[in-house]
Amino acid sequence: MREITTLKWEKGNLLLLDQTLLPHTVTYVTCKNLEDVYQAIQTMIVRGAPAIGVAAGYGMVLAAGAYEETSEESFFDYLKAQGEYLKSSRPTAVNLMWAVDRIVKTAEGFSGQPFETVVKEIEAEAIAIHEEDKQTNRNIGMNLLSLLKDGDTVLTHCNAGSLATAEYGTALSVFYMAQEKGMNIKAYADETRPRLQGANLTAFELTEHGVDVTLICDNMAAVVMSQGKINAVIVGCDRVAANGDTANKIGTFSVSVLAKQFGIPVYIAAPTTTIDMDCPTGKEIPIEERSREEVLRINGEYIAPKEVKTYNLAFDVTPAEYITAIVTEKGIVYPSFRDNLKILMRK
Ligand code: MRU
Repeated sequence: MREITTLKWEKGNLLLLDQTLLPHTVTYVTCKNLEDVYQAIQTMIVRGAPAIGVAAGYGMVLAAGAYEETSEESFFDYLKAQGEYLKSSRPTAVNLMWAVDRIVKTAEGFSGQPFETVVKEIEAEAIAIHEEDKQTNRNIGMNLLSLLKDGDTVLTHCNAGSLATAEYGTALSVFYMAQEKGMNIKAYADETRPRLQGANLTAFELTEHGVDVTLICDNMAAVVMSQGKINAVIVGCDRVAANGDTANKIGTFSVSVLAKQFGIPVYIAAPTTTIDMDCPTGKEIPIEERSREEVLRINGEYIAPKEVKTYNLAFDVTPAEYITAIVTEKGIVYPSFRDNLKILMRK
């Protein structure tokens, strides 16, 4: 089995597995400054909410190191401005905002210290964000596993796997924890148009790890559910609002509606870093709209008239009523989400 790491921090550079080239090519892109990280996030070289957060942490280290001590702008004003710029690379995954704010807060905690000390502390914090994500995902996987029984089959959408995180993934962590426990949990993966994360990434990473995975087209979810092949839907998330409404990859909403129709539970694998208690409901979650080219082409080839109108939302919001439970590293949250998320986030 190949060991494939999504993000590496080596000798003061951020190395990112180029996810736009998977599953055919495994190669890394080196980010030497904040602009490189911004571009990597925007072009989805790195993607998936927690991985974007980890990359942003290191992006801030690179920004801090590039500060000119002779500059008229104070270091803290500079760092905040760089952070705001980085946050604008993709709007939906709140982990990006969370990681930037955490780094800025760390820096502020060392104000008055020599510049080199502050930069070192920022680097230590970025590494901590990276390391914490691994343990978080193991815990989410174990909590998800407690909701399943040996032999179950899970439908997932997009990629909320090790490629989307520091390691293990959130939704896909359940398959790796099952392997560790000697349980047999099978996967169905939606292909996930337009970017095909299910086909290019989930099918790839689960196959690499020896998980039994069946790839289906997005429009097949209803029939596989009706055939009794699916015991649970488990997906990741980019932002969970305080009332439980959840933004995730476009198509998650449809899958959740179908699951309700067929009496199949829908579990959201959510690190607490993706829960935004300042966002009251799904209506306030900013939804990224991406280029029309993503809809018009597959693998670079046009599949539609170039002039046709398109609409390309990268995410949708699944209303809380379609969600059975939100599974975090701190525990499993059931409705009423508004009350129970509040209790969880106080822990
Ligand atoms: O556009 P992407 O590939 O960044 O979207 C990713 C998703 O929607 C994931 O499900 C989500 O970020 C959770 S990743 C653990």
